[in-house]
Amino acid sequence: MKNNENLSTGPAVQRDGFRSVLGAFTATLGSAVGLGNIWKFPYLTGVNGGAAFVFAYLICVAVVGLPLLVAEHVIGRRMRLNAVHAYENVVPNERAWSLIGFAGVLAAVLIMAFYTDIAGWVFAYVAKSVAAFATGSGPLTKESFASLAGGSLEPLAWQAGVIALVTVVIAAGVSRGIEKVTKFLMPVLLGLLILCDIRALSLPGAFKGVSFLFAPDFSKITGGVILAALGLSFFKLSLGMGTMTTYGSYLPDGTRIVPNATRVALADTVVSLLAGLAVFPAVFAFGFEPSAGPSLLFISVPMIFSKMPLGGLFTSLFFILAAIAAVGAMISLIEVPTAWMSEKGRIKRPVAAVISGAVMLLLGVLATLSQGPILSNVKIFGKNFFDVFDFASSNVLLPIGGVAIAIVAGWRLARKEFIAELDKGYGKTPWYSKTIYAFIKFVAPVLIVVILLNSLGLLKL
Ligand code: TRP
Repeated sequence: MKNNENLSTGPAVQRDGFRSVLGAFTATLGSAVGLGNIWKFPYLTGVNGGAAFVFAYLICVAVVGLPLLVAEHVIGRRMRLNAVHAYENVVPNERAWSLIGFAGVLAAVLIMAFYTDIAGWVFAYVAKSVAAFATGSGPLTKESFASLAGGSLEPLAWQAGVIALVTVVIAAGVSRGIEKVTKFLMPVLLGLLILCDIRALSLPGAFKGVSFLFAPDFSKITGGVILAALGLSFFKLSLGMGTMTTYGSYLPDGTRIVPNATRVALADTVVSLLAGLAVFPAVFAFGFEPSAGPSLLFISVPMIFSKMPLGGLFTSLFFILAAIAAVGAMISLIEVPTAWMSEKGRIKRPVAAVISGAVMLLLGVLATLSQGPILSNVKIFGKNFFDVFDFASSNVLLPIGGVAIAIVAGWRLARKEFIAELDKGYGKTPWYSKTIYAFIKFVAPVLIVVILLNSLGLLKL
């Protein structure tokens, strides 16, 4: 207990954090909302048969994602420390849980390595689509995407620019940096997305896309579909590697963790659905292939919008909002190693941010070059660097981290202490505290073990 006593009187008092309950909400949402909504959700929905996948995804968010988000916030706020030190001290005499934090730092670096590659493409598409609109030249084509993604200098320059941008924001601090930027970006994102939706929904034949998204054909639900949905719910809510623990450590005591997390999960899901509503009506109206895969966003969106009046403008808006979403998510990824290094005491926050950004860029170069001629032949277990980073983080580190976090929260931390932190700011225990605790303790770990075993090929569903 010694550690915890130190924490409540020690550096925690002066520690930077979110200043307001609203700011805490938008910052958390800013981490959740990202390329996962705009790029991954539509592509996985298209590949996995539409509404049936959406249905499975909604259930996964409710029964695994939300409980785990609550668990991370409780541990973070209780410890008021970065992920590594929070897990090192959360269970007295069991310092080995700090491995969750170290795995999280590693996962953050690996995710950033490929995430910034895609984010770089998004930023490049902002520039290209605005230029195309301004000069009145034709829409961005499949070929222009292939030459960007398969290039070397161009995607690397965009990637380096993106990393530099988020490093500067993160160096500025928690309340001045993260809170301020996300409070402004979230409403802008929502506004732009709704604008794109109105455009897409007013197309003739838009209804087919709407029913693809919302009218489930339950016969399409297979084990694989459920597992894809579960994995997405993890990635979407930034779970399993300490991002949400770190953000939990910045939550004001006045934040009611369960309602806040519920609002974040709901709003994040709404953003995904709005992104789907922008993409699919147009896909069907113009007869594109919904199961195009990861390239859906980059190849289809410009083509889709190009056939409409003011299409160039809408293409630009779409990529601008994808860029906005990506920035908030990347900020939360780079925050994990930055908070850890700067709270060790010897490294100042801006320096820690620059070191994090530099390491991410180093691995990011490998991810980006592995898409082009230079490194495409280098394979590890048959995968190029980009795919290895994606697989090792999303399919291995996040699920293992998620199970470990559920075990710490549900089995190693005293129930009384967990519930006390959860109920801070209420006065009394609301009914849902116990329900969510049961989900953290039993439902979430079992389901996550199932995805983990399946993604490693050890269990066939
Ligand atoms: N949730 C973000 C998205 O959907 C990505 C992200 C940010 C993330 N932080 C994370 C994913 C931590 C996993 C873990 O784009």
